[in-house]
Amino acid sequence: MPQPDLEKNTVLTLGKKKARGEKITAVTAYDHPTARLASEAGIDLILVGDSLGMVLQGHANTLKVTIDEIVYHTSLVARAEPRSLVVSDLPYGSFHVSVRQSVENACRCVKEGGAEAVKLEGGRKRFKVIEALLDAEVPVLAHLGLTPQSVHALGGFKVQGKLREKAREIHRDALELEKLGVFAVVLESIPQELARKISADLRIPTIGIGAGSGCDGQILVFHDLVGFTDLYMPKFVRKYADTRSSWLSALQRYVSDVQDGSFPSAAESYHLGQDIDEFLK
Ligand code: KIV
Repeated sequence: MPQPDLEKNTVLTLGKKKARGEKITAVTAYDHPTARLASEAGIDLILVGDSLGMVLQGHANTLKVTIDEIVYHTSLVARAEPRSLVVSDLPYGSFHVSVRQSVENACRCVKEGGAEAVKLEGGRKRFKVIEALLDAEVPVLAHLGLTPQSVHALGGFKVQGKLREKAREIHRDALELEKLGVFAVVLESIPQELARKISADLRIPTIGIGAGSGCDGQILVFHDLVGFTDLYMPKFVRKYADTRSSWLSALQRYVSDVQDGSFPSAAESYHLGQDIDEFLK
């Protein structure tokens, strides 16, 4: 097992990792215990992702997640003081109305939530907002390829950049984002050859999800990685555990122990002191 890195991760240490040829590890977390686990495991970056709309709230997509929810979940994660860099995901509608609204929302993630950076989806349409966030001293993680907040505009959760025009657009956007000053780019559901070229052409790290092994790092949704769901999962997910089965079996045994009276036992119960024995006789 690799030894977890004891250094606190920052936007700078992630860049240095790429320069040293070390892979970056990232996972989503939405609460305190998961953030503690991720930090202890040596995860470099925790994303308080709007994927919480699907895995926690049970929606079919991420569009209903609000900025208040992201700020709240970020505060749970930040309270764990993880060594991982804490990044809030700006949800749909929180950076689409105006530059001012976007800066206010990103500042809330930092001031109220304790985020150390924000992520936002999109390429050239978002450049103005990204510049304003960087001006406000908020580090930005960009997100290209399949951007789930565009699910309706894209006509579904579809792999992006398979054909030349779109592939070139994603590549150009990535180069431009580096020039603007983002500290890294998430590449989601694009062909591995394209992700490899973008990673080679950028000095800043790429973090892939469904983008192959040529990225500088990888991110997965925690609930997918630990097998805490029996819902559909895309082929890029590797399940490292089947926690749903063990939690289901624990709950089933609890139900049966309560029903047959074997829980709680005497050892799991409190007992009277000597002096009030008489009282209950
Ligand atoms: O919301 C999220 O969890 C994400 C990652 C999957 C990249 O955007």
